[in-house]
Amino acid sequence: MLAKPITSGEKSKYLHVFGLLGDSMGHGHGYGKVIIFGEHFVVHGLPSIVCAIGMRTTATVSRIRRKNFSGFEVEDLRPETPGYKKEKEAQMYRSISLMCEYCGIDLTRTPIKITFAGDLVAASGIGASAAACTAFARAVNEEFNLGFNDEKINEVAYEGEKGYHGTPSGVDNTASTFGGCLVFLKGPPPKFERVKMPTKVEIVMGNTGLTANTQKVVEEVKALMKTQPEKTKKIFEEADGLIREGRICLESCDYRRAGELMNRNHELLQELGVSCKELDLLVNIARENGAWGAKLTGTGRGGYMVALTPGKECQEKVARAIENAGFTVLKTTIGV
Ligand code: MEV
Repeated sequence: MLAKPITSGEKSKYLHVFGLLGDSMGHGHGYGKVIIFGEHFVVHGLPSIVCAIGMRTTATVSRIRRKNFSGFEVEDLRPETPGYKKEKEAQMYRSISLMCEYCGIDLTRTPIKITFAGDLVAASGIGASAAACTAFARAVNEEFNLGFNDEKINEVAYEGEKGYHGTPSGVDNTASTFGGCLVFLKGPPPKFERVKMPTKVEIVMGNTGLTANTQKVVEEVKALMKTQPEKTKKIFEEADGLIREGRICLESCDYRRAGELMNRNHELLQELGVSCKELDLLVNIARENGAWGAKLTGTGRGGYMVALTPGKECQEKVARAIENAGFTVLKTTIGV
């Protein structure tokens, strides 16, 4: 009987088992993201408009062959908002354990080293945890020849997000995995469509330098919905219409109206109690310096805000004003 030819993936698996191959490595990446409309509302079933940004986290996964070592070790080389990594360390470890379990990787038999790097700042509001989860899912898929497609990578990353958020909507890992600009609806099963933006448009993201606890802020919104059902119902009804109109504006390049809707989205989030004085300050600086609209993005209570700044000149002016106030910025584009 003829032996079945083995694939290069299988070959490396066998060579590893017999300890004959030098250390191989799985690689992966995940994009950062910016939510233009609908954070928090998305947790409760409303749509959200999210765009991947050009910055990403990378991960490499390699086997540890030290005697008596089991589990995993992490080297985290990502740039960060001071204190972010320390604050999120326990969540990251929980997240990695959840993903390994989901992928069926027995860390007592195959301990691993994970290195995170890339140009995405580890900070709140920019999808840092989702980017790390997606990058890890891709790297582990490569190292262990799991044969996952993007849908499965997204599922693994969603499992990992549970280590950070508890009950994530899935919007961040979906943007991190698939890239582009999406309208996302929480599952099960989660659904998303591409937002067809005909042109690129400049944005500025300003960093408050504060790290937020998503799980806690999401819980607080849930509590508010219980204690003030009438008030929150009105906020949610308005948000629903606003997010849907926001998509139409982005698809028709009506950035004036999109900016107005972002401003209103920020007010609705303030009413939910998820903004803070630093976010409000940066939003005001952006508006006073020519942004067409500005709002917090992501969890709130710190992290990033986003300003819509069509044209290089507008983008530069807003970015400089935020920097002059002592904060760091990212200048990027959304669309196409
Ligand atoms: C996402 O970046 C922020 C929240 O909407 C939580 C979630 O969607 O899981 C607040």
